[in-house]
Amino acid sequence: MINDIVAIAKEAGEIVREGFHKNLKIEYKSNESDLVTNIDKASEKLITDFVKKKYPSHGILAEEGGNIKEGTEYVWIIDPLDGTVNFTHGLPIFSISIGIQKNGKTIAGVVYDIPQNILYSAESGGGAFANDEKIKVSDNSNIAHSILVTGFPYNIHQNPYNALEKFVSFTRKARGIRRLGSAAIDFCYVARGVFDGFWEVYLSPWDVCAGKFIVEEAGGIVTNFNSEQIGVDSKQILASDGKIHNDMLEILKQT
Ligand code: IPD
Ligand code: CA
Ligand code: CA
Repeated sequence: MINDIVAIAKEAGEIVREGFHKNLKIEYKSNESDLVTNIDKASEKLITDFVKKKYPSHGILAEEGGNIKEGTEYVWIIDPLDGTVNFTHGLPIFSISIGIQKNGKTIAGVVYDIPQNILYSAESGGGAFANDEKIKVSDNSNIAHSILVTGFPYNIHQNPYNALEKFVSFTRKARGIRRLGSAAIDFCYVARGVFDGFWEVYLSPWDVCAGKFIVEEAGGIVTNFNSEQIGVDSKQILASDGKIHNDMLEILKQT
């Protein structure tokens, strides 16, 4: 199945690449920062049409359609364009994220970093890859030497979980904080050892499914802010190399 996920992610990636810097049809979702474009929709249609045709018994949970078939053994969890705000403003940081769950457990994940043409992939027990190169999380155990990444949810104006204070606390402890605007890419940079940790609140299953799995297959840890194991619907995400996880948890608990 992984070959099919890779192929369809690349095909959808061409639609997204083709739409970059072109005139877009933009609509608002929950507010004026939460956007959907004709390209998000076209990418999603390509992927979901493929699943419906080739795997008619599989369920689908896709951001722009919310189309789920309850009770199916396999579910495709799809973000057809992660980083839509970047995409609409011409900033080349965006991706496609596709995770597959079997009976509620993730078994495969693909994140396609379209501008850089890097395809991250993982299958259960097989490790994680960036194109053909095997990747692993960083060896850093010192938060003062770390680069961390975060994102802000579309309800940041309500400051859920004191998200802004947490940003300030991490800024005081780490070497640097980045905010890229594509959660799926944030996860993959942790998996690749570029970033040592990633935290965010209020992500959705399509932001989390493939990326979380790729981090875990690369040797990292993903929990909530209480250090508990989580599913893809968790509203608190902490992903790290494992060695700075406790230090990050401490900061998250204090704020
Ligand atoms: C968003 C991005 C962003 C994160 C937001 C997500 P979208 O996804 O992943 O990095 O901070 O919380 O909603 O809307 O571009 O698919
Ligand atoms: Ca997303
Ligand atoms: Ca999206």
